Amino acid sequence: MDSRKIREDFPIFKNREIVYLDSGATTQKPNYVIDHISEFYKNYNANPHRGAYSLSMEATEIYENTRDKIAKFINAKRSEEIIFSKNATESLNLIAYSYGMEHLKQDDEIVISIMEHHSNLVPWQKVAKVTGSKLNYMYINDEFEISDEEIEKKITDKTKIVGITHVSNVLGTINPIEKIIKYAHKKGAIVIVDASQSIPHMRIDVQKLNADFLVFSGHKMLAPLGVGVLYGKKELLKYMTPFLMGGDMIEYVYEQSTTFAPLPNKFEAGTQNVEGVAGLGYAIDYIEKIGYENIHKIEEEVVSYAREKLGELDFLTLYLTPNSKNHSSVISFNVKGVHPHDVASILDSCNVCVRSGNHCAQPLMRYLGFDSTCRASFYLYNTKEDVDRLVNGLNKAYGMFKKYLQ
Ligand code: ALA
Repeated sequence: MDSRKIREDFPIFKNREIVYLDSGATTQKPNYVIDHISEFYKNYNANPHRGAYSLSMEATEIYENTRDKIAKFINAKRSEEIIFSKNATESLNLIAYSYGMEHLKQDDEIVISIMEHHSNLVPWQKVAKVTGSKLNYMYINDEFEISDEEIEKKITDKTKIVGITHVSNVLGTINPIEKIIKYAHKKGAIVIVDASQSIPHMRIDVQKLNADFLVFSGHKMLAPLGVGVLYGKKELLKYMTPFLMGGDMIEYVYEQSTTFAPLPNKFEAGTQNVEGVAGLGYAIDYIEKIGYENIHKIEEEVVSYAREKLGELDFLTLYLTPNSKNHSSVISFNVKGVHPHDVASILDSCNVCVRSGNHCAQPLMRYLGFDSTCRASFYLYNTKEDVDRLVNGLNKAYGMFKKYLQ
């Protein structure tokens, strides 16, 4: 399968003359998803779970069938282990409030990695502060990876929660989550996996991983903005109190007290983003139609070409592991002596879209000794020509600043 052919499924590439290298922030959407969402509004729109009339029941069916589809997609044991949220950030906050706040006590330890996105870091600072527990970090080595020694040093008998991103949104490092989960379980801790940057690129099997919680956002995997997923083991979710209160998450409401609905509804207060949930289901159909194997083949070719071509630019510093098998579709870099925002602006003038800044990972930046990078992130619609356009843009940026850098 050829990414040039796949591009034809994405209308934005017909409408805008762009090289899109910011899929780590959000992916573009294929016609298959866009058209089905439009179809939903034209023929099925109603508030699910609330109406006794056919249209509402059909909307409910679309919503609940998508839950089943997602359970199957990540091999969850039960559909009720799938909770819909706004995004991975909301899913992580739900775990922090409904599990972290209730289970941690003074001197317990939470362990996360230094490469966490703020969404899997700031909530744990709050939990640590409120409960008196301690927040510890697994740091990375010179190859931008977490070593086995670091895992075994930081996860101890005091550790109750481990939070780990599967793939770093800054470095593209694929973390050894299987090893981390096994080791944490041995120490009696539960593990939360942030799969936001991995699930668009690789198949996730929550039972095989034995992850306790796993979160991701739809919009990074071809679905609309505003829909996210929380997977949790039933035996944990069952005993957690809801994070948001309101309609549809209750069983009985009295003047002074309430009993909550069973899973998964107790975590889905208020009218849900049915369009987003349905869109996520269609995005999954599309990914399954292309197949992870093909996605992997395309990305491997384009990303290894990018590693090679960017590696040839002596004015560039790359922040990526030399072990290509531990590296996914994100490449961060800096042009020596030029601020990343300037580089990104010059690339923009060449119609090349990259992200620049701290990528919501300020502690990682500080640890590495700078405050921002440019980041190119790739997906199934990128081509080697996109890489060539990036390289041309970078040559242009360096050319413009070179004379000031001597
Ligand atoms: N988390 C998104 C990123 O890494 C927004 O760009």
